[in-house]
Amino acid sequence: MKRDAVTIIEVCVGLNCALSGSYLLLENIKTHYNLEIGSVSDNGILIVEKECVRDCPCGVIIFINGLAYKQKSFKDIIKYIDALSIRKHLYDY
Ligand code: FES
Repeated sequence: MKRDAVTIIEVCVGLNCALSGSYLLLENIKTHYNLEIGSVSDNGILIVEKECVRDCPCGVIIFINGLAYKQKSFKDIIKYIDALSIRKHLYDY
């Protein structure tokens, strides 16, 4: 059975974000969690590409469950996603 996404990651791949490294960030997140774009993983993570959100001067922009994160490192993003997963896991019990 396909499960619902509990963590939705949207990475802007518009031109300016792409030039600032959004595809590298996207690939690193995909590899870290073994994700496929557009498919919900077993641990409930969905990653998708997003078109320009008109916030280009801020560097790579990524949305996690609708909240924008700008100019964050891969390490910071992974920490945040892991924290969300732990919190979700705690509330499941
Ligand atoms: S290209 Fe990403 S906000 Fe414009």
